[in-house]
Amino acid sequence: MKKILDLITDEVTKAFTECGYDAKYAKVTLSNRPDLCEYQCNGAMAGAKAYKKAPFMIAEDVVALLKDSACMEEVEVVKPGFINLKLAPQSVADYLNQMSETEKLGVEEAEEPKTIMIDYGGPNVAKPLHVGHLRSAIIGESIKRIGKFMGHEVIGDVHLGDWGLQMGLIITELKQRRPELVYFDDTYTGEYPEEAPFTISELEEIYPTASKKSKEDEAYKEAAMQATFELQHGKRGYQALLKHILNVSVTDLKRNYANLNVSFELWKGESDAQPYIPDMVQKMKDDGFAYISDGALVVDVKEETDTKEIPPCMILKSDGASLYNTTDLATMVWRMKDYNPDELIYVVDKRQELYFTQVFRCARKTGIVKPETELKFLGFGTMNGKDGRPFKTRDGGVMRLEHLISGINEEMLAKIQENQKTKENLGISTEEAENTAKMVALAAIKYGDLSNQASKDYIFDIDRFTSFEGNTGPYILYTIVRIKSILHKYHDLGKNADNSVITAAHSESEKNLMLELSKFNAVIEGAFTDTAPHKICSYIYDLANAFNSFYHETKIMSEEDETVQKSYIRLLELTKSVLETSIDLLGFSAPERM
Ligand code: ARG
Repeated sequence: MKKILDLITDEVTKAFTECGYDAKYAKVTLSNRPDLCEYQCNGAMAGAKAYKKAPFMIAEDVVALLKDSACMEEVEVVKPGFINLKLAPQSVADYLNQMSETEKLGVEEAEEPKTIMIDYGGPNVAKPLHVGHLRSAIIGESIKRIGKFMGHEVIGDVHLGDWGLQMGLIITELKQRRPELVYFDDTYTGEYPEEAPFTISELEEIYPTASKKSKEDEAYKEAAMQATFELQHGKRGYQALLKHILNVSVTDLKRNYANLNVSFELWKGESDAQPYIPDMVQKMKDDGFAYISDGALVVDVKEETDTKEIPPCMILKSDGASLYNTTDLATMVWRMKDYNPDELIYVVDKRQELYFTQVFRCARKTGIVKPETELKFLGFGTMNGKDGRPFKTRDGGVMRLEHLISGINEEMLAKIQENQKTKENLGISTEEAENTAKMVALAAIKYGDLSNQASKDYIFDIDRFTSFEGNTGPYILYTIVRIKSILHKYHDLGKNADNSVITAAHSESEKNLMLELSKFNAVIEGAFTDTAPHKICSYIYDLANAFNSFYHETKIMSEEDETVQKSYIRLLELTKSVLETSIDLLGFSAPERM
């Protein structure tokens, strides 16, 4: 469906051109004086010079024609030449009725769907998820959902950190504890056991223990490095252990991500890129891009227009070992080969921005990606505690994601149970209360994060995020639940509004709600183009406010005029659909009651 702003622009353009003015002056924007009008056009001022005419006169010419337009209720010239517009209530109602009939509430899918791969999550095997992994998961998931909604083929890849010293450390520690395991018997040629020799909680204890030991004990570190080397060069027993480590770890990660309503199409890791390294490096050398500098193999990536120094991209260390860079580049090799994406988006901590500049330039220069392949780095800021420093546990440790979430779940449950006491007994079972608490907690966390522009640092303020009032996830859910409850009451009376339509607004607050609803397709498109879920957040906050004002001023259930009441119900249904679709794009959902 055409965006409402474009429809208004069409009308205004017609008036400008019919008066003999250029269409380029017919630019319409949302009003910055909502007390005076809904939309405005400032083109008369812009055109004054070209036509050697006072802006006021140009505006009056245009307005004389616009006044007859069926979609305008009020058109006014304000000195020196502003054109203030108010839409005809009936035309807004028509727009909403049309919107309700489309499958995606007026959003049009892309005519030429793109294949987009999103690299997000980025957890490390055998290390528990901590708060540092939260933002990538939340933002990446939302961007993926928005892209799919717009009709694109979007593939999320978790890009597991499964290559490197942590594997050697785990193997070394396991060998010390249980040298009798068959994985350490070099003469063994049979099949290895199906069952892993450890559980996830053992694994999560083994890794930090080994990591600590390696920092204190040089020989231990040597052994871990040796084990890493042997693993990476194909030692059978170690490869079998790696499989176990991956399986156990990935099962646990999937459970954790599922709790966050986050999922991935691909569970590829750094290790999957390794087979592509030798050919990639050889090609870089053959094409003359890679050269030896101080013993290391590098590719220059600086450009003439750089205002700051961009160091060369290192491909291999002087001992021939590959690096984080090498893996990211080789990952692009298989992504291009297997999926040929039009666009690659990386949702990673913004402190890795320079690193990704190097990687992107190197990939372009050496032909790993095509000239037209879009590479986008979406760097996110740090999640800070109330003290303005990176979020920590009370004793200053790194906060495990699981603990953070269960803490908020408990807080939410207490709140919901407290709420129940003050209401008439809704008869909510403990099970329902617990489920509801989880849904509200997730909304609190995700909305708290997504409502900030991704690149900015933000303060993780649990008290504020979990509040049922203000610009929060729970407030949005509360609004949806309120709508659901009215609709239930209405349907319980045996009534329905299925064959009815939304009629022209009966009040200011209703018109305002309708105007907000009509912006939905433009907002979603904007959020997609700018990879900016926060635009959806600020939209649904405005929408929820508009709905609540309407609700407080309108007697819906006791409305005596059937047609009016039916129209209200249709409007509520549309508001509910728009809010629910929006929060689904943000990655959370609403309970039935709360
Ligand atoms: N595993 C990394 C970390 O924990 C993040 C990976 C980001 N993605 C990438 N393609 N480099 O910091």
